[in-house]
Amino acid sequence: MRTGVWLVGARGSVATTSIVGALALRAGLTGPTGCVTELPELRGPALPSFADLVFGGHDVVATPLAKRAEALAAAGVLPGRLVTALAEELAAVERDLRPAPTGGRQADRADATARDLTDFRRRHALDRVVVVNVSATEPAAQPHPGHADPTALRAALAGPDEVLPPSSLYAYAAVRAGCAYVDFTPSTGLRLPALAALAAERGVPYAGHDGKTGETLVKSVLAPMFAMRHLAVRSWSGFNLLGGGDGATLADPAANAAKVESKQRVLGETLGHLPQGGTRIEYVEALGDFKTAWDLITFAGFLGTGMRMEFTWHGCDSALAAPLVLDLARLTAAAHAAGHAGPLTELAFFFKDPIGAPTHSLAEQWRTLCGFAGRLHAGGTDDPRR
Ligand SMILES: NC(=O)c1ccc[n+]([C@@H]2O[C@H](COP(=O)([O-])OP(=O)(O)OC[C@H]3O[C@@H](n4cnc5c(N)ncnc54)[C@H](O)[C@@H]3O)[C@@H](O)[C@H]2O)c1
Repeated sequence: MRTGVWLVGARGSVATTSIVGALALRAGLTGPTGCVTELPELRGPALPSFADLVFGGHDVVATPLAKRAEALAAAGVLPGRLVTALAEELAAVERDLRPAPTGGRQADRADATARDLTDFRRRHALDRVVVVNVSATEPAAQPHPGHADPTALRAALAGPDEVLPPSSLYAYAAVRAGCAYVDFTPSTGLRLPALAALAAERGVPYAGHDGKTGETLVKSVLAPMFAMRHLAVRSWSGFNLLGGGDGATLADPAANAAKVESKQRVLGETLGHLPQGGTRIEYVEALGDFKTAWDLITFAGFLGTGMRMEFTWHGCDSALAAPLVLDLARLTAAAHAAGHAGPLTELAFFFKDPIGAPTHSLAEQWRTLCGFAGRLHAGGTDDPRR
């Protein structure tokens, strides 16, 4: 199954690491550590192989992909030998990267984006394309009457207003071009009634939001533990220090607020209440693409005895995120091929703020994911629209 993976933010750290990783896997230069779709529970015939994946994408900057990969190698995110060995393959991907459409009304930009997607599909004779948003986190969308339904949206986009934030304009173009959409960021993306209705109308599946790779991943394991042992969590404070492009973006208070909200949801929904404390994100340029998170949890046990727990996470964000981007592209393409449309709630395992998911417990999300993959491999679908 020849599958296009169209990355929005294609020259960023996560995108570049995903591309280098997939090319290295295809060439047999590395193993699939971190790719959950290569675990025995998820592996199977419904998924496109790494060799089936063809990359393209949009970005607002023009830094050559090879230069970005070299910078990531110099920062210790990926091995430099891979960048040298894959020079030709990276040059081939470079030819499929396009500047983000600019100018005109939003309807014109959506048309240009959809054209880039359909040209990509045709040029490489792809069975399907999955658009994955790994672009910079944007502030929460401003409400607009055009968000209500597809008819209102089409009319509004043809006018002079900036109706949709960039992530949602890409999602709109993806759906119109018949591409599945995955949002690895906390941005609005497809989370607007007009876009959800359009995706259902066009039979397009989508997944999101915000890849779960570090502190929130640990929270989604620990919070159910406190809940299941009936321990009373009083406070949970998290401090995240990060550098890299993502860190620089999150230095903006509006983008920071979108991310913090996404990181706290797991606690409120797992514990049934929001404990005191919050999550802070601070930009520390010297950390580069590495992140340190320190969490302090205070809780009470039997007879009100107070206790505390703390953990420190040192992660390389792009190395944690990239294999999940490949997993999501493979699973979403397989779901699209099997006739699934609308939100893929079964992929909650991958996200901090999963669309429509009833649980934030990683263990439960894992069981759901395994069942879903099993049905895809068995050739079935449980989508009633099929
Ligand atoms: N790394 C992780 O562990 C992780 C986890 C969850 C979510 N994310 C999210 O993934 C995203 C990417 O992270 P990153 O570290 O690669 O960031 P990055 O800053 O390195 O890359 C973002 C890229 O998006 C591009 N971009 C910005 N606006 C754009 C637009 N309108 N259209 C197209 N491209 C645009 C930028 O030029 C840049 O190349 C962020 O939103 C981050 O919050 C990352």
